[in-house]
Amino acid sequence: MSDKPNILVVDDESIVIRSAELVLKGAGYEVEGANGGREAIAKMEQKSYGLVFTDLKMPEVDGITLIRWVRNARPDTGIVILTGYPSQDTIKEALSLGIIDYVPKPFTPAVLLDVTQRAVHWVLERRGAAGKGEEEKEDFPPSMAAELDKVIEFYRDKPGSLIPVLQRAQEMIGWLPVPALRRIAQGMNIPPAEVHSVTTFYSFFTMKPRGDHNVRVCLGTACYVKRAEEVMKTLEEGLGVEVGGVTPDRKFSLEEVRCLGACGLAPVVMVDSDTFAGIDPKAAMDVLKPYG
Ligand code: FES
Repeated sequence: MSDKPNILVVDDESIVIRSAELVLKGAGYEVEGANGGREAIAKMEQKSYGLVFTDLKMPEVDGITLIRWVRNARPDTGIVILTGYPSQDTIKEALSLGIIDYVPKPFTPAVLLDVTQRAVHWVLERRGAAGKGEEEKEDFPPSMAAELDKVIEFYRDKPGSLIPVLQRAQEMIGWLPVPALRRIAQGMNIPPAEVHSVTTFYSFFTMKPRGDHNVRVCLGTACYVKRAEEVMKTLEEGLGVEVGGVTPDRKFSLEEVRCLGACGLAPVVMVDSDTFAGIDPKAAMDVLKPYG
């Protein structure tokens, strides 16, 4: 089986479909487009797709209706929202339906590819094809399983308690490995897709191990146009890791984020809770000196 699921991009704006196609095809994905929910359902009745990226606001058949249809008719298809400014209610509804993640429009290639990678992982995991052994080894020590069970037990049946449980799990383990998410889903009787989508939606949760200092580079639009990609490249080269990685001494982890809420200070980098503004791409490594 290919490790690159085929993707259907659904949007009533052709420019969005074309942009996504350009980026995803460039990364080796097979991509098709549909101009709205109705066309998407017609396509999915004929063919199966590993992933569906969908806008929410569309005439006739909107995104939520499409998501409901996919959840019922194609439960193994991963869903990512591709949208401008969703309301809290719409996002809540989409999360409860088990979306994997969302891509804010307009998107940068880096953000789209990052979300796609996470979504692909979800799909492969769902198909039982992800490298389970690799994830389940000592990343989640059995001693912690008992601790986690106590937390689950405490919160079980309390409404709205998934986020506090995830927070406690991340405090204990340092991050949220897939086996821990599975245990939480099972213990709290919540669908695994919903636990996964809540985890990926909130940026304070991480499904990757972090170093002693977490370096986050903003690749949101305002930072992107101020050469944030070059900042990221300098840090990747300086630390010797790719985005998402941890240095071998586990001192630094490197992540990208979509907006740190400080667009006027672009390009912005955060190290732990410290914010650094107006970073010169060539001197980006200087930011890390006090932490070395
Ligand atoms: S886009 Fe970087 S802080 Fe908003």
